[in-house]
Amino acid sequence: MASRSHRLRQDDKRYVWHPFTQMQDWLRERHPIIERGEGSSLIDVDGRRYLDGVSSLWVTVHGHRKPAIDRAIRAQLAKIAHTTFLGLSHPLAIELAKALVRIAPDGLAKVFYSDNGATAVEIALKMAFQYWQQQGGRCLRKTRFIALDESYHGDTLGAVSVGGIDLFHRLYRPLLFPTWRIPSPYRSPWDRSRRPDSLERLESLLRRRHDQVAGLIIEPLVQAAAGMLPSPPGFLKSIRSLCSQYNVLLILDEVATGFGRTGTMFACEQEGVTPDLLCLAKGITGGYLPLAATLTTQEIFDGFCAPYGEKKTFFHGHTYTANPLACAAALANLHCFERERTLDRVRPKIAQLRRELESLRSLSHVGDIRQVGFMVGIELMRDAARGEPYPYEAKIGMRTILEARRRGLIIRPLGNVIVLMPPLSISSRDLSRMVRIVADSISAATE
Ligand SMILES: Cc1ncc(COP(=O)(O)O)c(C=O)c1O
Repeated sequence: MASRSHRLRQDDKRYVWHPFTQMQDWLRERHPIIERGEGSSLIDVDGRRYLDGVSSLWVTVHGHRKPAIDRAIRAQLAKIAHTTFLGLSHPLAIELAKALVRIAPDGLAKVFYSDNGATAVEIALKMAFQYWQQQGGRCLRKTRFIALDESYHGDTLGAVSVGGIDLFHRLYRPLLFPTWRIPSPYRSPWDRSRRPDSLERLESLLRRRHDQVAGLIIEPLVQAAAGMLPSPPGFLKSIRSLCSQYNVLLILDEVATGFGRTGTMFACEQEGVTPDLLCLAKGITGGYLPLAATLTTQEIFDGFCAPYGEKKTFFHGHTYTANPLACAAALANLHCFERERTLDRVRPKIAQLRRELESLRSLSHVGDIRQVGFMVGIELMRDAARGEPYPYEAKIGMRTILEARRRGLIIRPLGNVIVLMPPLSISSRDLSRMVRIVADSISAATE
């Protein structure tokens, strides 16, 4: 009789289509089927245990099966699993909105819920656009957005329109709205080209076109899906002042960076920046359930308040907006941050990670190691000294993560970049083990 895991694997291959996955390869390969989690570990149906080195796609904060979050969801389940947020409200969504406003940068006053990062971004873009349309007069011309090359804001068409990763986005261009772009500020160690300065480009664009720009969207401090590309200190602050100077709304996408990943609750705190719109998702529920929020200012909110007949309503919503179970998880997540001083406790671990990653620099195919808090990208290169990349077909990132998997670590690459983003709760011992496995896996895959 076929084992349970064998049957599951067969049915997965027969019925399922996985995201961001070349299914022709998938159908030939054998992948873990994860059944349980405990702290920083994932356990598959065969009972094998793995370290979760990417926080289950950048979401897990306090670990899996965190008792306080489990309890909060169960308590809400005993009341109601879902009730609509269109025309009704519920206690936990109200409490959570208040808590988010309290921890968000000063000036953000209102919370609009949705259910994933891409929708949080869509909402910010539509709010910014509609805000200017409702201001009328010369503001009617403010219809364009500015985004960075290499940016990633999700996979729905609005989010793809402001995305800048050719591999993911180019094909869809005929379906997208036009976006003005500025270069990413990140320079790799082997980049000798004289690319234009991002801020100079932005200023020149705004000087000429600001009256047509509704907003600028950016991932603060680090362009995550581009391969963890950090921006130089002061960059975000300069973006903020240019947006203010030219009357352009600043949208910060903290879907990846929010909830402690960079060492502070939100990345923008590190440069003392308040956006006009802030997009949150992923870690908002501690990695438990899909929930997102777009926060904005009283001023933008007021731009939508008008007599019914003027039709200034924000005509946007999703069926599961502010799902009560997800709100319960999110509130419990925030309580854990406070009660366990999660941010204080992650700081020494960030320093430990930085120290231990240094040992990887001696590996001959490691070209660059980029770290912002607990977000790490290790770029592999065919010839690191000359800056010669591995070709796409070499699948070097995939080969490396399969080596890691054999050694008991689950990670996921971005092309040739090995991404590490452990749960903030990871122990210092597991952190060291993760780095050791990554070193061995890179050696095994590249030599
Ligand atoms: C910065 C950023 N924005 C938006 C998204 C999209 O989030 P979701 O996958 O929840 O739609 C991501 C996902 O990785 C992200 O990194």
